[in-house]
Amino acid sequence: MGALQNNTQLRFLTCGSVDDGKSTLIGRLLHDAHLILDDQSQSLEADSKRFGTVKDGIDYALLVDGLEAEREQGITIDVAYRYFQTPKRSFIVADTPGHEQYTRNMATGASTAELAVILVDARKGLLTQTRRHSFIAHLLGIRHVLLCVNKMDLVDYAEDVFAAIERDYLAFAAALDFESVSAVPVSALNGDNVTAKSGQMPWFNGKCVLDFLETVQVGAGKDSAGARLPVQWVCRPDGDFRGFAGNVSGAALRPGDAVVIEPDGAPTSIQSIETYDGNLDVAVPGQAVTLTLADDVDVARGDVIRHADSPTQTSDQVQAHLIWMSPQAMIPGRQYEIKIAAASARAWVSDLRYAINVNTLEHVAQKTLSLNDVGVCNLSFDRRLAVDAYKACPRTGAFILIDRETNETVGAGMIDFALRRSLNLTRQKLSLDKEVRSESLRQKPAVLWFTGLSGAGKSTVANIVDQKLHLAGRHTYMLDGDNVRHGLNRDLGFTDADRVENIRRIAEVAKLFVDAGMIVLVSAISPFRSDRDMARDLMQPGEFFEIHVDASLETCEQRDPKGLYARARRGEIANFTGISSPYEVPKAAELRIDTDAVDPESAADMIIKLLDKR
Ligand code: ADX
Repeated sequence: MGALQNNTQLRFLTCGSVDDGKSTLIGRLLHDAHLILDDQSQSLEADSKRFGTVKDGIDYALLVDGLEAEREQGITIDVAYRYFQTPKRSFIVADTPGHEQYTRNMATGASTAELAVILVDARKGLLTQTRRHSFIAHLLGIRHVLLCVNKMDLVDYAEDVFAAIERDYLAFAAALDFESVSAVPVSALNGDNVTAKSGQMPWFNGKCVLDFLETVQVGAGKDSAGARLPVQWVCRPDGDFRGFAGNVSGAALRPGDAVVIEPDGAPTSIQSIETYDGNLDVAVPGQAVTLTLADDVDVARGDVIRHADSPTQTSDQVQAHLIWMSPQAMIPGRQYEIKIAAASARAWVSDLRYAINVNTLEHVAQKTLSLNDVGVCNLSFDRRLAVDAYKACPRTGAFILIDRETNETVGAGMIDFALRRSLNLTRQKLSLDKEVRSESLRQKPAVLWFTGLSGAGKSTVANIVDQKLHLAGRHTYMLDGDNVRHGLNRDLGFTDADRVENIRRIAEVAKLFVDAGMIVLVSAISPFRSDRDMARDLMQPGEFFEIHVDASLETCEQRDPKGLYARARRGEIANFTGISSPYEVPKAAELRIDTDAVDPESAADMIIKLLDKR
């Protein structure tokens, strides 16, 4: 991005807690700088009467709070972009809401901003939310902050109130190494220090908000990695043409440029750059184009075409900062879908190194991340991806994590660097593979995965199946939750995080046994659907049989073979499944056995029939 462009355009975002007055400030800015068209002004007056929160006056927040639903709630609930222009500069504003649960929107709205306008209420001073938003702004690479201390009218325009907040903020922000932090005392409602210096605060020597925004120098753009084109889709209208469409980022691309297709690393060069309006001699960052290549190399959606001189950090593990946005905690080992630029893959946190206390910026040891937590973690993918450090290329360095069941975005993050450890490992090709081994055992390997409440009868049924298979000459092995917890999983308890790890290890061991050609019986509560799915995904199609051993909680409690339910009811066992910890019922099990109605022998026969049918 050239210097000229930066001088004439500023992208900023506003953030703050609810009621700090973000929308009022922007509305005021637009109105007082005469940036509102006449018809907009009239509808504003009408709307103020209908929805306004300002008695008998014009509610400037309504200018910004676009959606009807938002207006009726009196809050801003999504990122809204505004474009406005003064003779000196044009502006793009991302107005992001202040609710704790909407941190997500801030992360998305902030990603292209150069400056953050952070509002605080003069009566309240800095809040956790102020610090969190500042910290996220810092993570997103925003280098400049304007702290607006709003509602100065409500503290009698007192200089010492402003000075104390400014001092607090500077002390906090020192650790975030922003290039510039400025503070301005305002009353967005009354227009003090918004588009003109206020007579109410003669003690303030700085610029008013508009003046500041028109003149602040924010420097060059942040991409340094070089040219990339994440392939959004492969365009193949007929047998001859094969083009790869996407948005250019980082730097320009030209016909003839040597490029590499990541993550595979195939070299080729650009033959042509095509658009709806004809071919181009150069494609600049931000432009949507279709590339054709000189060679017939493999390129799929999600691949990254990068300039030969600017390598990506292709890997299946990265260290990243992760902002958690779901009320359901992030648990290491649990699988999510990751989206990075145009690529998606299966991903999980393999190590949560620490969380960060956003108030003190201290590192805190934590096993999980809760809503709005920020942590540093190692993230694993199920395949290699072409990525960059976020600092070098935000486009291929930023990601979101999606819950595989609900499709909701549950996390957003920034890659710090790729981890090289697994790149130095190759898969050793074994002379005796699964096929050879299972042939010599004369059986097809399989996993019979018994899930259900404690006392439902998993182990009882699994035991009978095991014996029957054994008598029939099958080679089996039994992984029983209780037993594995005496050895391999001795270090694990019954928190959600430990159960996820328990199942992950059991599934990995089951996979080894399947590789050895065996029929593995797993008997574990395995209360979480996503973990059972993870185990299923480790195996080949047709190898995994999920068997829901079902009995009502009442039945299990009556049976109570180990006396654990009674103890759990007395409060002696924490996190007991069915009582103080959830059990997620299988939705698509291969078999459900109701042990209230079916005796263990018949249940075992049903399972063996299922296995034989294959
Ligand atoms: S799992 O949830 O991680 O799959 P797993 O099957 O390994 O559990 O272990 C469950 C067994 O541990 C139960 O059968 C029971 O005997 C014992 N146990 C001890 N504490 C608990 C608890 N809080 N919740 C469930 N089972 C428990």
